[in-house]
Amino acid sequence: MAKPVLQVDGYGKYFQLHEQNKLIPSSHNVSFSVHAGELTALVGPTGAGKSSVLKGIYRSYLPTGGRILYRDAQGHELDICLASDHQILELRRREIGFVTQFLHCLPRQSTLDVVAHPLFMNGVAREEARQRAAELLAEMNLPERLWSVSPATFSGGERQRVNLARGFIARPRLLLLDEPTASLDPETAECVIRLIERLKTEGTAMLAIFHHPETTRRLADRVIVLTPPPAVEELLKEML
Ligand SMILES: Nc1ncnc2c1ncn2[C@@H]1O[C@H](COP(=O)(O)OP(=O)(O)OP(=O)(O)O)[C@@H](O)[C@H]1O
Ligand SMILES: [Mg+2]
Repeated sequence: MAKPVLQVDGYGKYFQLHEQNKLIPSSHNVSFSVHAGELTALVGPTGAGKSSVLKGIYRSYLPTGGRILYRDAQGHELDICLASDHQILELRRREIGFVTQFLHCLPRQSTLDVVAHPLFMNGVAREEARQRAAELLAEMNLPERLWSVSPATFSGGERQRVNLARGFIARPRLLLLDEPTASLDPETAECVIRLIERLKTEGTAMLAIFHHPETTRRLADRVIVLTPPPAVEELLKEML
């Protein structure tokens, strides 16, 4: 079997709360792999550390322990925990996409430009990038009258479609999805699920968290169950 695109071994993240002199574990000893053309789903109760795992892989924050091995198209491996900031920016530009739970965008940027942004970053000409953004937004049923305005004032479901389109447009090799269908009506959620199925057949590796268990059952090739990490006192006992 082909080697995984992503291999996570013993990942852990502990937050230091200086003002309270406390250590809060958000993930502890998490291991799994993600393969090309497959979707690995993270499941578990609220607070189990699902979003924290995605943020560690995207290096939104620096992991505290473990290894996160990313294998690029040429077969080169990079430990995301040890990579330089420059290497991380390159990975985000060319290889890894992240659809976060909430869209962050500038108030005056049009929806077309927000979605086309990853293509601009890869040197695609402005009009071509905007054309591809328009095609994707049409496929996701976002009304055309919204394309020229900023998503800042959109409803939750409209915003989420913009967020997804921006994550999909540059066809990253690894896509991280944090509850991508949570705020969508059933019809739009179905569009997104079909798009995810298509990306799988095209070879994209995906790591996802879904709100509905039936979406996990339908899309996941592997399911990783996370449990809330033990308290720091318990972790220390384990180490002694
Ligand atoms: N920046 C932070 N500082 C301190 N604690 C944090 C931070 N980020 C996350 N945590 C803690 O880590 C734990 C895991 O959070 P996380 O957001 O990963 O959970 P989750 O499994 O995604 O939950 P949900 O299903 O509610 O989205 C929580 O107890 C949270 O309070
Ligand atoms: Mg979460």
